[in-house]
This record gives sequence, structure tokens and C-alpha cells, in this order.
Amino acid sequence: MENFSFYSPTYFLFGKDQETKAGEMVKRFGGTRVLIHYGGGSVVRSGLLDRVMKSLDDAGIYHTELGGVKPNPRSGLVYEGIDLGRKEKVNFILAVGGGSVIDSSKAIAAGILYDGDFWDFYSGKHIEKALPVGTVLTIAAAGSEGSPDSVITNENGMFKRGTGSDAIRPAFSILNPALTQTLPPYQTAAGITDIMAHLLERYLTNSKDVVTTDRLIEGLLLSMIEEGPKVIDDPDDYEARANIMWAGMMAHNNSCGVGRSQDWNSHNIEHELSALYDCAHGAGLAITFPAYLTYVWKHDPARLVQLSVRVWGVEDTGDDEKTIMEGIRRYREYLKRIGMPRTLAEVGGSEADIDKLADVACNGDGRDGNLYGFVKLTEEDVKNIYRLML
Ligand code: NZQ
Ligand code: ZN
Repeated sequence: MENFSFYSPTYFLFGKDQETKAGEMVKRFGGTRVLIHYGGGSVVRSGLLDRVMKSLDDAGIYHTELGGVKPNPRSGLVYEGIDLGRKEKVNFILAVGGGSVIDSSKAIAAGILYDGDFWDFYSGKHIEKALPVGTVLTIAAAGSEGSPDSVITNENGMFKRGTGSDAIRPAFSILNPALTQTLPPYQTAAGITDIMAHLLERYLTNSKDVVTTDRLIEGLLLSMIEEGPKVIDDPDDYEARANIMWAGMMAHNNSCGVGRSQDWNSHNIEHELSALYDCAHGAGLAITFPAYLTYVWKHDPARLVQLSVRVWGVEDTGDDEKTIMEGIRRYREYLKRIGMPRTLAEVGGSEADIDKLADVACNGDGRDGNLYGFVKLTEEDVKNIYRLML
């Protein structure tokens, strides 16, 4: 295991009706003037936004609102949020929604305290300080409720970049699994796929002797394999939703990723799909991850055999390629079972886009022509991986 530091100070409130404590939590973390940030309307329709605002009113906290965050959140609204937050002199950002809303909130929280262009943080500059962010989560997926990360789509070119800093880890996150019951099945499935991808990105490591985190990851993957189909079949299965919601946090606050190198090539390859085609990030990962595994397995067959055997229940016959391919086949079957796509065409892509996708994935804003993770990928490798999605 490698040396590591791990700082994960988020205060979690989990379970039914916990959103009614939003005001109390904002107060606890010093918020007196709050910008409530939300998405395209699901939290208005469900009544959640009203409940959160009432909770802030009851706690005597001033608030102003900015809605309209789109999935794969755009840079334009971040600039708007920074302007509004400064004008209103807010000292706390409260995200009510999914990963997109939380990521946009984190960008605003850092941008308000920064004199330059907030995009600097998404092209390599480290975030040193940010206003505190709280979240009321409505979808189990990105893990942004516990993570130090934020991913934004730059509208000037429609490409995605991420940033990471402990300064933007949420101060608190409220996780009520019942809030996820209004999700369309496709979004639920995309969330499950993303959670599994966050675990796999950490499983694909070049570090040795990482038994504890290997076993944590395997356990969480197995729980997703068990619980995923349950919520697809019965969207009101609160217990399954609760298990998935906590797994989503565990998968990405990095408790499973410490002390080991991590991959993230699949995320970097996928991000250009959701940026260009505006598909759900999880749906893009359903297409990307099996293709990526098929392309890179030879880098460490023993690790991929371990994944196939322990997670996908494949018998190890001693033929590595056969064992690994059967694991990938079962992974694809699972993704199909929960309703995820398999090909580029299913999210609106085609072979003609591959050169462009590989170019934006590998070049510009913090990239040097290659992707680095479990394996180093050249632009040609990335094109080959996109070709496996046809
Ligand atoms: O905008 P509204 O109307 O709220 O609708 C949303 C949106 O259309 C809807 N939704 C959310 N909760 C709902 C609901 N609809 C009904 N009932 C509910 N309870 O679902 C749609 C998707 O929401 P979004 O926030 O985009 O989903 P997700 O949480 O999957 O976030 C995806 C974004 O997170 C980034 C992705 O790249 C993508 O931009 N990621 C962020 C990470 C991080 N910060 O740590 C890591 C991830 O790997 C990922 O890259
Ligand atoms: Zn993800």
C-alpha cells in the first residue's frame, strides 16, 4: 500500500425526511446568506425546493435562488452564479439536486472567492479556497456529495474538464433515499453504472498489496449487482435505494481509493461523449467501460481475472483471456438488464466523430496528447477504444 493522506470532513445526514434539517445544518456551518442552486425543475415539481426553503426560513437564514443547471453542467451558468453570489454577498452555497447541480455549486463556491476566470481551476490551477457548500442529494450517481471533485462542460467548444480540491468537499450532505424514487428508470440505471465505474476506476491499479481496498471495492460492486435490478423492477423499493445511495457516496469519497494508484481513463474517454452528445454520464460509461477493459486487459491479466472471478462469479479455468472475456460479457449483460446502452449510435454518436472525440479527450486544457492511468493511452489507442463502441 502507498502512503496517503485522507481528509473527508463531510457531515452526512441520511434517511427519510432529513431535508427538513437543511436550515439547521447551514447554520451549523456558519451560513447566514445562502445561494440555493438547483436544476431543470425536478426539485420544484417534487416540492423538495419548497421544503428546503421553509427549513432555511425556519432557521432565519436569508436565501436567494438560481435554478437551471443542465445535466453535464455548463460554464455559462457558473459565471451567472458567481455574479449573483457576489451581488447578494452570499457566504454559503446549497446545492439541491444531482451531481450536475453539486458540481456547478462547487464551481460557484470557488469562483466567488477568486479574482480570475473560474475556468482556470478546470485547466490545471488548484482551488485553495471556496465558500462552504452543502448538498441535498436527489440522485445516487456521481458521488459529488462526498467527493472533492467537480466536472464542468465548457460551452466554448463543448468539452468537459474536472478539478479536485479538499476545499470543495461539501461541509454537509443530506441523503434521503426516498427523494430518488421520482427518478426516471434510465437515470437510476445511469447512476448505478456511474457508481460501479467509480469503483472500477479504483480497482484498476498498479499498486501492490491493496487487499483491504480491493475487498471494499468488490463488496460494493457485489451490492450494486444485487440491489440494482431491484430498483429497476420496483422504483419504490426504499431499502434498495438506501443501499445504492450510500454505495454511491462510498464509491467516490475515496475511502476505497486511498493508498493505491487509480485509473480514470474510462472517465476521461467518456466525458467527451456526455459533453458532445449530452447523454447521461452513466450511459456513456456503460458504453465506454466494457470497451476499455477489452482493450487494456493484457496490461495485468491477474487483476482482471480476479475481478471476473470475485465480482462476476466466473470460474477460473486457467485460460486468462477466456475468464476475463466472460467477466466482461457478464458486465455487459448486467448493464443491458438495467437498461443501459451498448453502442455509440445509441447515444447519438457515429464513426465519423471518433477523430474529434479522441482529439478533445487527449489535447488542450491540461492534456498533453495522451491519457494516463492504469495504462498510458496515446490518441491512437483512444481512437481504437472509441471504435470498440461501434
Ligand atoms: O435538472 P433536474 O430537473 O433536477 O433533473 C435531473 C437531470 O435531468 C434528474 N434528476 C435528478 N434527481 C431527480 C431527477 N429527476 C427526478 N427525480 C429526481 N430525484 O436527473 C438528471 C440527471 O441529473 P445529474 O445531476 O446530471 O446526474 P448525476 O448525478 O449523474 O451527475 C452527472 C454529472 O456529474 C459529473 C458528470 O460528468 C456529470 O456532469 N461527475 C461528477 C463527479 C464528481 N463531482 O465527483 C464524478 C463523476 O464521475 C462525474 O464525472
Ligand atoms: Zn463518474
